[in-house]
Amino acid sequence: MARVLSGIQPTGEMHLGNYLGALRTWAVEQYENDAFYCIVDLHAITVDFDPAQLASRTIDAAASLLAAGLDPAQCTIFVQSHVHEHSELAWILQCAATMGELSRMTQFKQKGTTTESVRVGLFAYPVLQAADILLYDADRVPVGDDQRQHLELARELSRRFNARYGDTFVIPEATVPPIGARVMDLQNPTSKMSKSSRSELGTIMMLDDPAQIARKLRRAVTDSGSEVTYDPAEKPGVSNLLELLAAATGSVPADLASGYHSYGALKNAAAEAITELLRPVRERFAELSGDPGEIRRLLSDGATRAGGVAAATLSRARDAIGLLAP
Ligand code: TYM
Repeated sequence: MARVLSGIQPTGEMHLGNYLGALRTWAVEQYENDAFYCIVDLHAITVDFDPAQLASRTIDAAASLLAAGLDPAQCTIFVQSHVHEHSELAWILQCAATMGELSRMTQFKQKGTTTESVRVGLFAYPVLQAADILLYDADRVPVGDDQRQHLELARELSRRFNARYGDTFVIPEATVPPIGARVMDLQNPTSKMSKSSRSELGTIMMLDDPAQIARKLRRAVTDSGSEVTYDPAEKPGVSNLLELLAAATGSVPADLASGYHSYGALKNAAAEAITELLRPVRERFAELSGDPGEIRRLLSDGATRAGGVAAATLSRARDAIGLLAP
């Protein structure tokens, strides 16, 4: 069985991009692989955050993963900070990474405005992510398109470490879904859908009800002209809607285009398909969120399982670099 690992930040409610780019694949992967899914709370503190909300958001993130179809009998779900090996391996890997390669990370360049005030944790963020992955000997990492560069860094650090200190880590590979890997903002279809969107209308949340989904799609920005064609460069708005419809119905965006003769018809079809796609997720979340005690128990089991794997890998890495055993 292949080992799979991925992570998601507990920064508020998840959106359709998280679901199509990552969570939906996670749910499929759990059945054929030995899968570990991590709620990365230590990544969430690399930007300004509210300490009063961090714990409850972490529980909500776990409920969202379960609602999206993850089954704790099939995969290991855990919280990053519950397994202290993540921070320890991150330090060791920081001693292998260079300022140059971290400065080239596009997500850092987008978030970290000036070098004077940017937090060191935000700069080192991708190294902690590499530690998350390498600790579990992950063969594959299912992520959306925006994580490709971080995965390249994890591969590079793994190769570099192995070459310098001897074979220690598996070299991981990114798995990106063919459709839905980069869901765009409905109000600004040249930017990806994200939690920090400028307009609430641009982002469909995973728990939006049918009326909210229909409203957001009705108001989605489309392109000049009236013909429905799949052309992401010239028609980013319409192409995003086709991509959403295709992702929700298991079809190919370009094939769907000829079936719609107006933007309105396409929007209605997309609203219907996404409503049906998210309906079971919303229903499961409502059931689960009533029992935070049970979620904490699941996370505690997950941390025990994850900790066992992580401890063995960290110990290998410590030995490889010659740290004195305690
Ligand atoms: P995060 O929390 O921003 O996003 C979680 C997952 O959702 C995907 N995603 C999208 N996919 C398609 N379209 C979008 N608009 C969209 N927005 C987000 C992301 O690609 C991701 O797969 N750094 C990571 C978390 C992380 C991680 C890891 C991932 C920490 N350690 C180890 C993999 C392995 C992040 O911030 O994801």
